[in-house]
Amino acid sequence: MKYATPCLASIAAVLCAAAAFAGQEGTRPAPGEMPHSPAGHAMPMPGAGDMPAAGAGAPTPQPSDERQEIRISAGERDFVLNEMRNFLLNVQGVVAALADDKPAEVAKQARASGMGHRGHVPRSLMMKLPQEWRMLGMDTHGRFDALALEAEGLADRKQMTAQLAAILANCNGCHAAYRLVSE
Ligand code: HEC
Repeated sequence: MKYATPCLASIAAVLCAAAAFAGQEGTRPAPGEMPHSPAGHAMPMPGAGDMPAAGAGAPTPQPSDERQEIRISAGERDFVLNEMRNFLLNVQGVVAALADDKPAEVAKQARASGMGHRGHVPRSLMMKLPQEWRMLGMDTHGRFDALALEAEGLADRKQMTAQLAAILANCNGCHAAYRLVSE
């Protein structure tokens, strides 16, 4: 059940969305032409046709959230969001260490979000996460490890910054695709 082929197209779509966030110089080769812009659909478009005519009062909230819902329990949500805040902490640590020119610290911070960090994901939660989510999550942990390796090796700043940009593209790609809803 692990890497069922029918999912590959949607995985590519999510990864492609992530690549689009990396901008023109995204390090991920797009597997096919994907003309849509994931950034675009998150953006509210004033006057985009089907908006109800608003009066002079407060602006009517738009039902613009088209992200796929992931239904999980409150405890599972806590777990996911805690991991997310950890990601952000380590991103901050990496950026600060890059600014300080301390590659050993870059490696330490990056590794704290690497593959070694996952694993205690509760099985019940794992079962509720779509394949694309899991792939993107793994890819993100893997990229943190790759960044740690670069920091321990050549520690080329341009390269490390590009790797961080690709990591952040994964964050944004996933955030554009999914949202968490309590069961
Ligand atoms: C595989 C999917 C996925 C990846 C990859 C991902 N996130 Fe998230 N993240 C989410 C989802 C889903 C939410 C909840 C969004 C919602 O429900 O509106 C979230 C929420 C968050 C939050 C809010 C935490 C809170 O306490 O409310 C932060 C911060 C965050 N992510 C940071 C990151 C960073 C930084 C990265 C990349 C290093 C990242 N995320 C990668 C899916 C992902």
